[in-house]
Amino acid sequence: MIETWQADAIVLFGATGDLSHRMLIPSLYHLDADGFLPPNFKVLATARAQLTHDEFVAQVRDLLAARPEGLDETVWKRFEARLDFTSADATTEAGAEQLKPMLEGLKAPVFYLALSPSLYGRVCVALAAAGLAHDHTRIVLEKPVGRDLETSREINVAVGAVFDEERIFRIDHYLGKETVQNLIALRFANTLFEPLWNNLTIDHVQITVAETEGVGDRWPYYDEYGALRDMLQNHMLQLLCLVAMEPPSDMEPDSVRNEKVKVLRSLRRFSRVDAQTWSIRGQYTPGVVGGKQVKGYQEERGQESGTETFVALRADIDNWRWAGVPFFLRTGKRLPERRTQIAIQFKPVPHSIFDGQAKDDLVANRLIIDLQPDEDIELTLMNKAPGLTAGGMRLQALPLSLSLLRAYEGPGARRRIAYERLLLDAIKGNSTLFVRRDEVEEAWRWVDGVAAAWREAGLTPKPYAAGSWGPAGAFALIERAGRAWYD
Ligand code: BG6
Repeated sequence: MIETWQADAIVLFGATGDLSHRMLIPSLYHLDADGFLPPNFKVLATARAQLTHDEFVAQVRDLLAARPEGLDETVWKRFEARLDFTSADATTEAGAEQLKPMLEGLKAPVFYLALSPSLYGRVCVALAAAGLAHDHTRIVLEKPVGRDLETSREINVAVGAVFDEERIFRIDHYLGKETVQNLIALRFANTLFEPLWNNLTIDHVQITVAETEGVGDRWPYYDEYGALRDMLQNHMLQLLCLVAMEPPSDMEPDSVRNEKVKVLRSLRRFSRVDAQTWSIRGQYTPGVVGGKQVKGYQEERGQESGTETFVALRADIDNWRWAGVPFFLRTGKRLPERRTQIAIQFKPVPHSIFDGQAKDDLVANRLIIDLQPDEDIELTLMNKAPGLTAGGMRLQALPLSLSLLRAYEGPGARRRIAYERLLLDAIKGNSTLFVRRDEVEEAWRWVDGVAAAWREAGLTPKPYAAGSWGPAGAFALIERAGRAWYD
């Protein structure tokens, strides 16, 4: 039985870093604004940076005021009273000791490590040595948990020596996105799709995560990881799991996570031949994105690099439901538009009763789930266009659209930062939307297989101009399977 006590504080490690500034602090502020933080809840922060309490509070105020939503003075007053900061090196016992005065009186803090994963183990050991990791503490870990199966295990073992698995919350922020959770609702709160959700009716699935941003000054991290490890191992495989998993018996953390693990275990291992036929790596060169000239990856990096900033591949799930249904995944930086999308392509009708023009117009149904930038779910259905042309039967594909923003617009319809939901769940102790150790490790096992097949096949990144949809091989890959990317 998982205990779900409510935390009385969150302690942000790495509180002056980019993630804390862009995502975590604004998310906590919004949770406060919307009345989700209990009255005495504390937002405590630590970092190695030498800042005083007042300097940190001023920094937080400035970053919140600079956001498009602006700062509400009433909320700020309440939020400010929750804040405290201690400068410390939390990788050492002495540093963890320095946090004690700030944590005094707290019964159940959540520790959030917005730090490099290489520090997770040391911070946990230091927290334990200082007596701060007791039974009512939880720990939240940012991705990536490791760089491969081996390093991920090392981290999991080091953290697991201090915290039980049920107190470890591994974040994949894609699971905090409304539309991602809506995928669960779409599949399991409707009778409509589930009977069709299999290889009898579905032809193939496409998952695209396209970004216009480049790597920029994140290259010291990125160059070690590349698109496969930075995006595909986590966010994209999580999306794939939610599309492909069997209905869980309920929304309990282990019910959902058990089903996701089964999908990961059913992923077909990549061979050298698969690497050559069904995958492509790319790296952006200078080009134009959004009307602006941008640098290539190697110019940003300052030297040659064999890291991919684009990957497209075909994944096959070897089980009864999905046998024969390819899942095409592609992700890349410096692509022409920002788009996160899942396209479920249904099979064509088994026999057409139409002839002439109408027959040519027949298009198989497609369910498009747009996650970003707009949240939309669209089902294309064939329809008779009004009129008498083409013998009175002219067919046309029309979208049945469920624009989530329009459906829920009005006061309070602000699009939430994905971290808001996840932080709230971590505070409450609900781990359904967090990634369990075996999930992370299964995902690494498969990704390690892809990386090994790439090495065996000597597959190096093909250049693509920034602002294009990746190397030509990405098109060839899907065309080889008789399909095309949905653009
Ligand atoms: C992060 C990756 O996990 O996700 C980044 O490290 C990527 O490289 C980001 O840009 C994308 O997140 P989102 O929410 O903007 O799609």
